Amino acid sequence: MKTIRLLLVSLLFTFSLPLFALSPEAVRDAPSAAAVASAHPYATQAGHEILEAGGNAFDASVAVSAVLAVVEPYSSGLGGGGFWLLHRASDNYEVMIDGRERAPLSAHRDMYLDKHGEVIPGLSMDGALAAGIPGEPAALAHIAEKYGQLPLAKSLAPAIKYAREGFPVTEHYRRMAGFRLEALRASPESTKVFLKDNEVPPLEHLIIQADLANTLELMAKKGARGFYRGKVGKALVKGVRKNGGIWKTKDLKKYQIVEREPLKAPYFGMTVTSVAPPSSGGVALLSMLNILEPYDLLQMDETSRIHLIIEAMRRAYRDRAEYLGDTDYVNVPVSQLIDPEYAAGLRASINPEQATKSSELRGVQTQEGGNDTTHFSILDKQGNYVAATLSINYPFGSGFMPAGTGILLNDEMDDFSAKPGVANAYGLVGAEANAIAPGKRMLSSMSPTFVSNGERLAIIGTPGGSRIITMVLLGILDFAAGNKVESWVSLPRFHHQYLPDTVFHEADAFTAEQVQALELRGHTLKASDNTWGNMQAILWDKKYNEVKAASDPRVEGSAQVQQ
Ligand code: GLY
Repeated sequence: MKTIRLLLVSLLFTFSLPLFALSPEAVRDAPSAAAVASAHPYATQAGHEILEAGGNAFDASVAVSAVLAVVEPYSSGLGGGGFWLLHRASDNYEVMIDGRERAPLSAHRDMYLDKHGEVIPGLSMDGALAAGIPGEPAALAHIAEKYGQLPLAKSLAPAIKYAREGFPVTEHYRRMAGFRLEALRASPESTKVFLKDNEVPPLEHLIIQADLANTLELMAKKGARGFYRGKVGKALVKGVRKNGGIWKTKDLKKYQIVEREPLKAPYFGMTVTSVAPPSSGGVALLSMLNILEPYDLLQMDETSRIHLIIEAMRRAYRDRAEYLGDTDYVNVPVSQLIDPEYAAGLRASINPEQATKSSELRGVQTQEGGNDTTHFSILDKQGNYVAATLSINYPFGSGFMPAGTGILLNDEMDDFSAKPGVANAYGLVGAEANAIAPGKRMLSSMSPTFVSNGERLAIIGTPGGSRIITMVLLGILDFAAGNKVESWVSLPRFHHQYLPDTVFHEADAFTAEQVQALELRGHTLKASDNTWGNMQAILWDKKYNEVKAASDPRVEGSAQVQQ
């Protein structure tokens, strides 16, 4: 693995295909094959089943989301939310479905602080008070009704089957359950469903979720009402309130998805399409690409290239911390932040030979995102496609499941700034834009993205908390360098998020010589004990009308192309 990684790092950006656009006649409108790449083989298979049953990519996205909710309970679920980026082939219409969780209407800015104004550890991460109002059920019903060709019941059928019949525990499941064992043990329902004899279940043990199957069946019959109203809605509110939470019936009744216009910008002859706030992903991605655009990354030496990418990350994450939040509640200067002129100003502060100290940039407090989430990419034979990143935040979310619902709740409230307005180490105040407010959506890093240069299209995304955006950036740069889809998903990864002022990297991302060269330029590096991300990507090469898909080799996903 080490050799492969070092080889990949040296391949990064080193060979390139021509990036000029073909004449429109030479480019195909419909792909030769359909593809699904997701974090679990059952979800990928369900996506193809729905496509073969006459569904389009949007129906398949409902099926894949719902199966992931069942078989990857540590990553996403009906008790969580996400962003679905859709491209409709018939009219090239693109839309972001914002199914992000919202703060309960009784939430308030200081709800996770003690009487001395200090954050109470764990309160926004474990248990009922950590949960935002889920958005995934509303999003699935909306996508099926407005963009799909099949009834919701048909697209939910594979998920119902896996919930009722069970799925076998894998190594990855065991790792995730081990990590959140205490949170799961704190909830009797979660203990019953996700553990065996109060411990992490053995390999191959079947996880059966009868209550979840019943809830999914109610959704299949009644749509979103089957979740937010009636029996399930009542049990959710009752369970949350009995366990220290603040949900009310009206929180569920009032939850609505929002259709938002995706953010788009050119980069090096390509169009990059990504998500708008309340994700910070699109803004930060476009900002980093704008900063990097004038540099000839393919021609420069590797240390200089990595140095410039790190400096672009540092600046985009500084802005993320200061400006980003839910645009339905706060003013976010999105057009300024993704304006190439603004990026030119940021670029001017980069010393090509020396790391800028983050303390030298005007500072604000930063907020780490949660670290578990899921992503999938889908392309159908009509040329519709979807990139979706979904989350319940930490592995197994809050760990809390209200009785009789089968719904494991998110802990997405932790993505708000629990303590905004407090001066940081540099005496500056920040993160106001992401303060808690009733009904507000918490800031996210999820970054489902399309990249197209006219002849090649990438459908790409990954989980990974605050590192999502930089992982997608590295994938896009690798796509721009003309490399294969297998390379985007397996590339060794590095990340800088302004504060702490450290370049985090996967253990094999840099050679000893590269580490030394970067340190000489003033960077502090820290190798991670773990691998990062779980990227799922599709390439549609319109020139050769070839479809390829790849799943991150780090975890247990599956990418399948069907002719
Ligand atoms: N909870 C992870 C994210 O939204 O970025």
